[in-house]
Amino acid sequence: MLYRLARTGFFQLDAEKAHDLAIHNFKHLTGTPLDLFYRQKLPHRPVECMGITFPNPVGLAAGLDKNGECIEAFDAMGFGFVEVGTVTPRPQSGNDKPRLFRLLEAEGIINRMGFNNLGVDNLIDNVKKAKYNCILGINIGKNKDTPIEKGAEDYLICMDKVYQYAGYIAVNISSPNTPGLRSLQYGEALDELLAELKTKQLELAEKHGKYVPLALKIAPDLSDDEISQICQSLLRNKIDGVIATNTTLDRSMVEGMKHANEAGGLSGRPVQLRSTEVVRRLYEELGEQIPVIGVGGIDSYVAAKEKMLAGAKLVQVYSGFIYQGPALVKNIVKNI
Ligand SMILES: Cc1cc2nc3c(=O)[nH]c(=O)nc-3n(C[C@H](O)[C@H](O)[C@H](O)COP(=O)(O)O)c2cc1C
Repeated sequence: MLYRLARTGFFQLDAEKAHDLAIHNFKHLTGTPLDLFYRQKLPHRPVECMGITFPNPVGLAAGLDKNGECIEAFDAMGFGFVEVGTVTPRPQSGNDKPRLFRLLEAEGIINRMGFNNLGVDNLIDNVKKAKYNCILGINIGKNKDTPIEKGAEDYLICMDKVYQYAGYIAVNISSPNTPGLRSLQYGEALDELLAELKTKQLELAEKHGKYVPLALKIAPDLSDDEISQICQSLLRNKIDGVIATNTTLDRSMVEGMKHANEAGGLSGRPVQLRSTEVVRRLYEELGEQIPVIGVGGIDSYVAAKEKMLAGAKLVQVYSGFIYQGPALVKNIVKNI
């Protein structure tokens, strides 16, 4: 109810201004009496995944808290895990504005943010200050001006820096808004990247005396063959998890709607079926060997359950959270 009121106000604003205002409020209200507007106590529904016990299976997807400024606020809302980032080695401003659009009739969002973030060192400073009980995922990427052939170096720099602070590390090679990034999802490029990440992970595990799992985040715009090849590569390189999916380039679900032709990745209700299909394909190939984290259009308990029935061990929300607020997390966790 309260969120509905707040949403009416937020939705009067330009989408990115509303996002920035929400982040500002979450950052400054948490820990004050005013955080009772979103603080909620949810039942404990522990799930084992990637060797970690998650307090519940519902997470915040990457991209909402790119700089890890509001971990405590999302923890207070009852998320079982929060994935911050995508963060890059150096700060970057992202694409020109406007770059974020609501597709209200479809409960969708199109974004071409382009990894705007304050850099990995800033993120770590924020993480160090935060007090939270949920599991923290840190999502890493490459700077736009790093040539794609040198992309692996950026992931390794970020891994090195975030390793000791992360519950798990998500490797994002599926944003449509960094030119060339998605080419890392295919063939030898993927195999080489995963092999380098695995070697680094084992080195860091030795150095820090703890094993931090690695999860690869993939796009929904992949053929069955491409998904199979990704699965083979994940298995060969002993990657710990796979997150499916990122946003889609496909516009068939939103044809004719306002903003449908904006460039960028489409998320929310219009990507729900396709991401569930990708989760199902991954589970068919991977079985219980590598867990799948399902994300894409989850806007209800039933949508979360569908991802789980398709094979997801954990789920994440982003667009559904924008449209419904913290009540969505409560509905899913209570019923799961
Ligand atoms: C505005 C916006 C920014 C995003 N930024 C990132 C990002 O930085 N890294 C990432 O891995 N995914 C990013 N995503 C993708 C989401 O994490 C998620 O995979 C996708 O939106 C599908 O889930 P949803 O339908 O619940 O939104 C972003 C999504 C949106 C809407």
